[in-house]
Amino acid sequence: MSEDIAKTSQRTPWVIGNWKMNGGLAANQSLLAAMLPALNAGGGRTRRARVGVCAPFPYLAQLQSALEDTGVAWGAQDVSDKTSGAFTGQVSAGMLAEFGVGLALIGHSERRQYNGESNVLVAAKAAAALAAGITPVICVGETLAEREAGQHQSTVAAQLAACAPVLRQAGSAVIVAYEPVWAIGTGKTASPAEAQAMHAFIRDQLRLAATACADCSVLYGGSVKASNARELFAQPDIDGGLIGGASLIAADFLAIVAAA
Ligand code: 13P
Repeated sequence: MSEDIAKTSQRTPWVIGNWKMNGGLAANQSLLAAMLPALNAGGGRTRRARVGVCAPFPYLAQLQSALEDTGVAWGAQDVSDKTSGAFTGQVSAGMLAEFGVGLALIGHSERRQYNGESNVLVAAKAAAALAAGITPVICVGETLAEREAGQHQSTVAAQLAACAPVLRQAGSAVIVAYEPVWAIGTGKTASPAEAQAMHAFIRDQLRLAATACADCSVLYGGSVKASNARELFAQPDIDGGLIGGASLIAADFLAIVAAA
Protein backbone atom coordinates (compact mmCIF):
# COMPACT_ATOMS: atom_id res chain seq x y z
CA MET A 1 0.00 0.00 0.00
CA SER A 2 2.61 2.59 1.01
CA GLU A 3 4.84 1.97 -2.03
CA ASP A 4 1.77 2.40 -4.13
CA ILE A 5 1.00 5.65 -2.30
CA ALA A 6 4.56 6.91 -2.80
CA LYS A 7 4.37 6.20 -6.51
CA THR A 8 1.12 8.06 -6.96
CA SER A 9 1.79 11.02 -4.71
CA GLN A 10 3.19 13.37 -7.35
CA ARG A 11 0.55 16.11 -7.08
CA THR A 12 -2.01 13.31 -6.94
CA PRO A 13 -5.29 14.72 -5.71
CA TRP A 14 -6.24 13.13 -2.39
CA VAL A 15 -9.32 13.28 -0.24
CA ILE A 16 -8.46 12.05 3.24
CA GLY A 17 -10.97 11.70 6.06
CA ASN A 18 -9.71 12.49 9.57
CA TRP A 19 -12.16 10.89 11.97
CA LYS A 20 -10.35 12.49 14.94
CA MET A 21 -11.41 10.90 18.27
CA ASN A 22 -14.79 9.78 16.97
CA GLY A 23 -16.36 6.46 16.17
CA GLY A 24 -16.73 3.00 17.62
CA LEU A 25 -16.73 -0.48 16.13
CA ALA A 26 -20.41 -0.44 15.18
CA ALA A 27 -20.50 3.18 13.99
CA ASN A 28 -17.35 2.70 11.89
CA GLN A 29 -18.80 -0.44 10.37
CA SER A 30 -21.95 1.37 9.25
CA LEU A 31 -19.99 4.36 7.97
CA LEU A 32 -17.67 2.13 5.94
CA ALA A 33 -20.54 0.00 4.67
CA ALA A 34 -22.34 3.13 3.49
CA MET A 35 -19.27 4.42 1.65
CA LEU A 36 -17.53 1.35 0.32
CA PRO A 37 -19.79 0.46 -2.62
CA ALA A 38 -19.31 3.95 -4.09
CA LEU A 39 -15.59 4.10 -3.24
CA ASN A 40 -14.99 0.59 -4.57
CA ALA A 41 -16.72 1.42 -7.81
CA GLY A 42 -13.87 3.83 -8.41
CA GLY A 43 -11.15 1.48 -7.15
CA GLY A 44 -10.55 3.73 -4.13
CA ARG A 45 -10.20 6.76 -6.32
CA THR A 46 -12.37 9.01 -8.37
CA ARG A 47 -11.30 9.57 -11.94
CA ARG A 48 -8.33 11.51 -10.56
CA ALA A 49 -8.25 11.45 -6.78
CA ARG A 50 -7.12 8.89 -4.22
CA VAL A 51 -9.10 8.38 -1.05
CA GLY A 52 -7.88 7.70 2.48
CA VAL A 53 -9.32 7.42 6.00
CA CYS A 54 -7.41 8.15 9.23
CA ALA A 55 -8.88 6.53 12.35
CA PRO A 56 -7.94 6.33 16.04
CA PHE A 57 -5.32 3.61 16.75
CA PRO A 58 -7.70 0.93 18.11
CA TYR A 59 -9.66 0.93 14.85
CA LEU A 60 -6.73 0.42 12.48
CA ALA A 61 -7.29 -3.33 12.46
CA GLN A 62 -10.92 -2.71 11.54
CA LEU A 63 -9.83 -0.45 8.66
CA GLN A 64 -7.29 -3.02 7.57
CA SER A 65 -9.89 -5.76 7.29
CA ALA A 66 -12.49 -3.50 5.67
CA LEU A 67 -10.19 -1.75 3.22
CA GLU A 68 -7.36 -4.10 2.34
CA ASP A 69 -8.89 -5.26 -0.92
CA THR A 70 -10.03 -1.82 -1.94
CA GLY A 71 -7.96 1.02 -3.32
CA VAL A 72 -8.80 3.13 -0.26
CA ALA A 73 -5.78 3.90 1.92
CA TRP A 74 -5.98 3.88 5.71
CA GLY A 75 -3.96 5.87 8.12
CA ALA A 76 -3.22 6.87 11.69
CA GLN A 77 -3.62 10.31 13.22
CA ASP A 78 -0.24 10.43 14.92
CA VAL A 79 2.97 8.45 15.25
CA SER A 80 5.83 8.41 17.73
CA ASP A 81 9.19 9.84 16.75
CA LYS A 82 10.79 6.88 18.59
CA THR A 83 11.22 3.38 17.20
CA SER A 84 10.72 1.36 20.41
CA GLY A 85 11.44 1.35 24.13
CA ALA A 86 10.14 2.83 27.36
CA PHE A 87 7.73 5.36 25.89
CA THR A 88 4.43 4.50 27.55
CA GLY A 89 1.40 5.35 25.47
CA GLN A 90 3.28 5.95 22.23
CA VAL A 91 2.88 3.98 19.01
CA SER A 92 5.79 3.55 16.61
CA ALA A 93 5.68 3.81 12.85
CA GLY A 94 6.88 0.21 12.59
CA MET A 95 3.85 -0.96 14.60
CA LEU A 96 1.55 1.02 12.34
CA ALA A 97 3.18 -0.42 9.24
CA GLU A 98 2.29 -3.92 10.54
CA PHE A 99 -1.37 -2.93 10.25
CA GLY A 100 -0.89 -1.91 6.62
CA VAL A 101 -1.06 1.76 7.52
CA GLY A 102 -0.09 3.79 4.48
CA LEU A 103 -0.64 7.34 5.79
CA ALA A 104 0.00 9.11 9.08
CA LEU A 105 -1.20 12.58 9.98
CA ILE A 106 1.71 14.43 11.55
CA GLY A 107 1.54 17.68 13.50
CA HIS A 108 -2.20 18.20 13.24
CA SER A 109 -3.01 21.56 14.87
CA GLU A 110 -4.99 19.75 17.59
CA ARG A 111 -1.81 17.87 18.54
CA ARG A 112 0.25 21.04 18.38
CA GLN A 113 -2.35 22.80 20.57
CA TYR A 114 -3.34 20.10 23.09
CA ASN A 115 -0.15 18.03 23.19
CA GLY A 116 2.36 20.83 22.80
CA GLU A 117 3.97 19.36 19.69
CA SER A 118 6.77 21.59 18.43
CA ASN A 119 7.97 22.01 14.85
CA VAL A 120 11.06 19.98 15.77
CA LEU A 121 9.00 17.06 17.11
CA VAL A 122 6.72 17.18 14.07
CA ALA A 123 9.75 16.89 11.79
CA ALA A 124 11.07 13.92 13.81
CA LYS A 125 7.69 12.17 13.60
CA ALA A 126 7.54 12.72 9.84
CA ALA A 127 11.03 11.22 9.51
CA ALA A 128 9.98 8.18 11.60
CA ALA A 129 6.90 7.60 9.41
CA LEU A 130 8.92 7.89 6.24
CA ALA A 131 11.55 5.46 7.52
CA ALA A 132 8.80 2.86 8.08
CA GLY A 133 7.43 3.34 4.55
CA ILE A 134 4.42 5.37 5.71
CA THR A 135 3.53 8.57 3.84
CA PRO A 136 3.53 11.46 6.32
CA VAL A 137 0.70 13.96 5.92
CA ILE A 138 2.42 16.99 7.45
CA CYS A 139 -0.15 19.48 8.75
CA VAL A 140 0.63 23.18 8.84
CA GLY A 141 -1.47 26.28 9.42
CA GLU A 142 -1.74 29.48 11.37
CA THR A 143 -4.02 30.44 14.26
CA LEU A 144 -6.50 33.31 14.03
CA ALA A 145 -4.21 35.52 16.12
CA GLU A 146 -1.30 34.81 13.78
CA ARG A 147 -3.42 35.62 10.73
CA GLU A 148 -4.70 38.83 12.29
CA ALA A 149 -1.14 39.83 13.10
CA GLY A 150 -0.16 39.23 9.47
CA GLN A 151 2.01 36.27 10.50
CA HIS A 152 0.25 33.54 8.53
CA GLN A 153 3.04 33.19 5.97
CA SER A 154 5.90 33.34 8.47
CA THR A 155 4.18 30.77 10.74
CA VAL A 156 3.68 28.28 7.93
CA ALA A 157 7.16 28.97 6.52
CA ALA A 158 8.68 28.12 9.92
CA GLN A 159 6.59 24.95 10.21
CA LEU A 160 7.81 23.82 6.78
CA ALA A 161 11.41 24.92 7.32
CA ALA A 162 11.66 22.65 10.37
CA CYS A 163 10.69 19.75 8.11
CA ALA A 164 13.17 20.66 5.35
CA PRO A 165 15.49 17.66 5.91
CA VAL A 166 12.60 15.20 5.82
CA LEU A 167 11.05 16.97 2.84
CA ARG A 168 14.35 16.70 1.00
CA GLN A 169 14.52 13.00 1.78
CA ALA A 170 10.88 12.31 0.96
CA GLY A 171 10.64 13.97 -2.42
CA SER A 172 7.07 13.58 -3.60
CA ALA A 173 6.43 10.74 -1.08
CA VAL A 174 5.00 13.19 1.40
CA ILE A 175 1.70 15.03 1.58
CA VAL A 176 1.36 18.51 3.07
CA ALA A 177 -2.00 19.66 4.45
CA TYR A 178 -2.66 23.37 4.94
CA GLU A 179 -5.24 23.70 7.70
CA PRO A 180 -5.77 27.24 8.99
CA VAL A 181 -6.59 26.66 12.66
CA TRP A 182 -9.39 29.26 12.56
CA ALA A 183 -11.17 27.22 9.89
CA ILE A 184 -11.04 23.85 11.67
CA GLY A 185 -14.41 22.71 12.98
CA THR A 186 -15.67 26.30 12.99
CA GLY A 187 -17.75 26.19 9.82
CA LYS A 188 -15.61 29.15 8.70
CA THR A 189 -13.78 28.04 5.56
CA ALA A 190 -10.93 30.00 4.01
CA SER A 191 -12.26 31.52 0.80
CA PRO A 192 -11.00 29.77 -2.33
CA ALA A 193 -8.83 32.84 -3.03
CA GLU A 194 -7.37 32.91 0.50
CA ALA A 195 -6.68 29.17 0.39
CA GLN A 196 -5.14 29.39 -3.09
CA ALA A 197 -2.84 32.23 -2.00
CA MET A 198 -1.52 30.15 0.91
CA HIS A 199 -1.16 27.04 -1.24
CA ALA A 200 0.86 28.97 -3.82
CA PHE A 201 3.02 30.29 -0.96
CA ILE A 202 3.45 26.76 0.42
CA ARG A 203 4.50 25.42 -2.96
CA ASP A 204 7.12 28.17 -3.20
CA GLN A 205 8.37 27.28 0.29
CA LEU A 206 8.55 23.61 -0.66
CA ARG A 207 10.60 24.53 -3.72
CA LEU A 208 12.96 26.49 -1.50
CA ALA A 209 13.15 23.79 1.18
CA ALA A 210 13.57 20.86 -1.13
CA THR A 211 13.22 20.96 -4.88
CA ALA A 212 12.52 17.23 -4.78
CA CYS A 213 9.23 17.68 -2.97
CA ALA A 214 7.96 20.67 -4.95
CA ASP A 215 5.56 18.25 -6.67
CA CYS A 216 4.09 16.65 -3.57
CA SER A 217 0.35 16.91 -2.97
CA VAL A 218 -0.77 19.91 -0.92
CA LEU A 219 -4.25 19.44 0.55
CA TYR A 220 -6.57 22.03 2.10
CA GLY A 221 -8.39 21.31 5.37
CA GLY A 222 -10.79 23.34 7.50
CA SER A 223 -14.58 23.12 7.24
CA VAL A 224 -14.54 21.50 3.80
CA LYS A 225 -18.11 20.54 2.95
CA ALA A 226 -19.93 19.13 -0.03
CA SER A 227 -21.05 22.68 -0.83
CA ASN A 228 -17.60 24.30 -0.98
CA ALA A 229 -15.33 21.40 -1.99
CA ARG A 230 -15.61 21.83 -5.74
CA GLU A 231 -14.61 25.48 -5.71
CA LEU A 232 -11.71 24.88 -3.31
CA PHE A 233 -10.40 21.88 -5.26
CA ALA A 234 -10.61 23.84 -8.52
CA GLN A 235 -7.84 26.19 -7.33
CA PRO A 236 -4.61 25.54 -9.23
CA ASP A 237 -2.44 24.83 -6.16
CA ILE A 238 -4.99 22.82 -4.11
CA ASP A 239 -4.58 19.08 -4.64
CA GLY A 240 -7.55 17.86 -2.59
CA GLY A 241 -8.67 17.96 1.01
CA LEU A 242 -8.22 16.73 4.57
CA ILE A 243 -11.73 16.40 5.89
CA GLY A 244 -12.78 16.35 9.54
CA GLY A 245 -16.48 16.60 10.47
CA ALA A 246 -17.81 15.87 6.99
CA SER A 247 -15.84 12.60 6.82
CA LEU A 248 -18.13 11.15 9.52
CA ILE A 249 -21.20 11.40 7.30
CA ALA A 250 -21.09 8.99 4.37
CA ALA A 251 -23.10 11.10 1.93
CA ASP A 252 -21.07 14.23 2.69
CA PHE A 253 -17.71 12.49 2.39
CA LEU A 254 -18.74 10.82 -0.88
CA ALA A 255 -19.89 14.16 -2.29
CA ILE A 256 -16.51 15.70 -1.38
CA VAL A 257 -14.70 12.76 -2.98
CA ALA A 258 -16.82 13.25 -6.09
CA ALA A 259 -15.84 16.94 -6.14
CA ALA A 260 -12.19 15.93 -6.45
P1 13P B 1 -13.14 20.05 9.92
O1 13P B 1 -13.32 19.56 8.49
O2 13P B 1 -14.08 19.42 10.88
O3 13P B 1 -13.10 21.54 9.97
O4 13P B 1 -11.69 19.55 10.38
C1 13P B 1 -10.60 19.74 9.54
C2 13P B 1 -9.47 18.96 10.07
O5 13P B 1 -8.94 19.26 11.13
C3 13P B 1 -9.01 17.80 9.30
O6 13P B 1 -7.80 17.32 9.78
